[in-house]
Amino acid sequence: MRVERVNFGSKLGIILATAGSAVGLGNVWRFPYMTGENGGAVFIIAYVVCILLLGIPGMVGEFIVGRHSQANAARAYASISSHRWWGFVGLLGIVTSSIILGFYAVVAGWCLHYLGVSIVGGLKGDTEAITAYFQQYSADPVKPAFMGIVFILITHFVIVRGVQRGIEKASKVLMPLLFLLLLVIVAASCSLPGAFQGVEFLFRPDFSKLSSRVFLEALGQAFFSLSLGTACLCTYASYFSRHTNLLRAASQIAFVDCLIAVLAGLMIFPAAFSVGVQPDSGPSLIFITLPNVFQQAFAAMPVVGQVISVMFYALLVFAALTSTISMHEIGTAFFHEELHLQRRHAAWIVTVACCVLSVFCSLSVGGFGGLQVMGMSLMDFCDFLTAQVMLPLGALLTSVLLGWFVRSRVLHDEFTNWGTLRGLWFPVYKFGVRYVVPICILLILMHLFGVI
Ligand code: PFF
Repeated sequence: MRVERVNFGSKLGIILATAGSAVGLGNVWRFPYMTGENGGAVFIIAYVVCILLLGIPGMVGEFIVGRHSQANAARAYASISSHRWWGFVGLLGIVTSSIILGFYAVVAGWCLHYLGVSIVGGLKGDTEAITAYFQQYSADPVKPAFMGIVFILITHFVIVRGVQRGIEKASKVLMPLLFLLLLVIVAASCSLPGAFQGVEFLFRPDFSKLSSRVFLEALGQAFFSLSLGTACLCTYASYFSRHTNLLRAASQIAFVDCLIAVLAGLMIFPAAFSVGVQPDSGPSLIFITLPNVFQQAFAAMPVVGQVISVMFYALLVFAALTSTISMHEIGTAFFHEELHLQRRHAAWIVTVACCVLSVFCSLSVGGFGGLQVMGMSLMDFCDFLTAQVMLPLGALLTSVLLGWFVRSRVLHDEFTNWGTLRGLWFPVYKFGVRYVVPICILLILMHLFGVI
């Protein structure tokens, strides 16, 4: 039985909702600390190369699978290939996105907490006090786990409102707001004394820092940031109309995603350099260094500092929400259509599973440091496993499927909207999806596992 499906209502809705999935903590939290840890400008160059070479063709590929089949991820992969086995790739995506939602909600919960604390003016004190505050908070067994659950529940309630009323409406409001907030903070950060050093760090490459590790991290970051390899784009594309130009949509979304990431860098590094904070302080960058930055940079005008800090954490919460919505939707659409459950019941399955994982992830960096896998906290392990292994694997299998097992006619029809577009880039896309994408990802995965 096929379940009645609703599509996105407008072109703008499509772009905003899909860009909303792509733009998230990956851009505003993960990208800056990855850039800080991997040498600044060279990391950005590697990241842009990965987006152009692998990201955009990968996105178009997932769009093709989703729109062609107009079904949840598992069914979409099975139906475009006419071989049930390929449904496994969709299932892999559903598992990957649920794992990401589990640990992502922890960081989103931290942001929610920091938003509350900055509203009541609680982020005060010297550097040690702010560091101690974060360490104490993240080590608390109850509070962060609770906030992670709250975040997943907020996501749940948007999801049960459905595609148009929930996802599309939320994205139309949140995305422009996010962009505006970002611009204001970038302007404030770049106008601080000594901010230029941060701009240099971001844009003047030091090629001696280029290494295979930088490329590995850039690949993981590019896929994570574009929500690629999780079947998320495939699920959203199943709500696209027949008139959506897939290549154009992918390029626009990749552009917006890069732009927001670079703006996030411009928001953080100039301010960090201005007050002498190290750029490579890792995942805690935005929770330990930034409150310091806001305080020191606006010491003469503490109210402005507080307003900027509230805006910053509000921005993070918005960005995270549009992404958690998309991760949640992948599983919800699957259970809704495959088990013939009502949407709200299907959504509960995902919500409960992700809440459980989220609590364990939160405990692994907090109360129960013993929750370790391969020498990493469960949270870091989930990040590593998804960004560096499962996402590239999902994208690799998708490109092998499209490049070698799907009829060229189907690809051409989807790429050109059944001949109504000229499709000048089709030969390039076909070559990319058949050779470039699979070979590059394979080499990178082999390198990761020490085969080469
Ligand atoms: N792209 C999101 C971000 O940058 O924050 C993260 C993400 C969303 C990953 C959806 C995977 C996914 F399915």
